[in-house]
Amino acid sequence: MKILVCGSLNIDRVYTLPRLPERGETLYCGNYEIHVGGKGLNQALAFQKAGARVYAAGKIGPDGAFLADYLAKAGVDVSAIDRTAAHSGHAVIEVDPAGQNQMVLFGGANREITEDYCDALLSAHRDAALLLTQYETSCVEYLLRRAQEAGIRTAMNPSPFTAALRDFPYALADILILNEAEAAAITGEADPEKAARALQKRNRGEVIVTMGAAGALFCNGPRLIREPAVPAEAVDTTGAGDTFTGYCLHALLSGAAPREALRIAATAAAIEVTRPGAAEAIPDRTEVLAALHG
Ligand code: RIB
Repeated sequence: MKILVCGSLNIDRVYTLPRLPERGETLYCGNYEIHVGGKGLNQALAFQKAGARVYAAGKIGPDGAFLADYLAKAGVDVSAIDRTAAHSGHAVIEVDPAGQNQMVLFGGANREITEDYCDALLSAHRDAALLLTQYETSCVEYLLRRAQEAGIRTAMNPSPFTAALRDFPYALADILILNEAEAAAITGEADPEKAARALQKRNRGEVIVTMGAAGALFCNGPRLIREPAVPAEAVDTTGAGDTFTGYCLHALLSGAAPREALRIAATAAAIEVTRPGAAEAIPDRTEVLAALHG
C-alpha cells in the first residue's frame, strides 16, 4: 500500500514544566529537549510503522536536515522532501506533569509549498492509494483538489484549527480525521456526534472524530460507530492524534471494519502518550498488536 503524506516537518522544542504558565507569568522549565515532529512527519511515520509504504513530502530549511534523515532511517521515502533557504518549521511545546501541552508554531519552510511543487509531487505519485495532508502547510486546498482530479483518494486532518477551516471545501477530502475540539470549532456543534454528521454532510465520505478519554467515533452516511479509548498513564500527549491518524487510516485502507480500525488506532495512541516526544514515541506494529491481543 503506497501512501503519500504531504505536510509539516517541524523541529519540536519541548519544555517540561511544573504546570502550564498563566498569562504574563515567567516559569523555569525542569527539562528541555529537541525532538523531530510536525503533523506531516508524525503521521508519515505512524503510517509507516503501521505497515504502509510511505512517501513523505514537504519542505525543510538547512536546519531541518535531521528531520528527513530521521524519516529515512525509519524506512520512509524522503526523495520528495524539498530543501529551501528558509528556517524549518518549529514548535515550542510546553508540557505539564499530566502530559497535557500547549504549543506555539512557526510555519517557516512548511509555508513555502507552492502549486508547482504540488503538481510535480502528484504527477510523480499518481499510483498512491491515498494522499494524506493536514493544515500546517501552504496550498492545502490546491493539493487536495489536484489529487482528486488525478484520481487519488484524499484524507485530511484539518489541524490546527484556524478560522479559514470553517469554510473549507471539505468535499476535497474523502476522509476527514480530527479531534472533537477541532470538529466543534469548524461546525459550531459542541456534541461530537452532531459535529461528525455535519462534517460528513460536507465531505460526503468518511469522518473520524477523536474524543480523548471518551474514545473516538466513525461516521459514514447514516452509520455512526463509537469506540472507547484505551486507558493510559500519559507522560506527553503530543503526537497522540497523529499516531491515531496513521494507524486508523492504515487499518481502514487494509480492509478493517471501522470499529476494529478505531480500536487499533486507540491502542497505538495509548502507547504513544506513555513516552516523551511525538514521533519518537510512536509504537511499531508489533508492539501495537501485542497490546491488542496480549
Ligand atoms: O501533532 C503534534 C505536532 O503538532 C507536533 O509534533 C508539532 O510539531 C505540531 O506540528
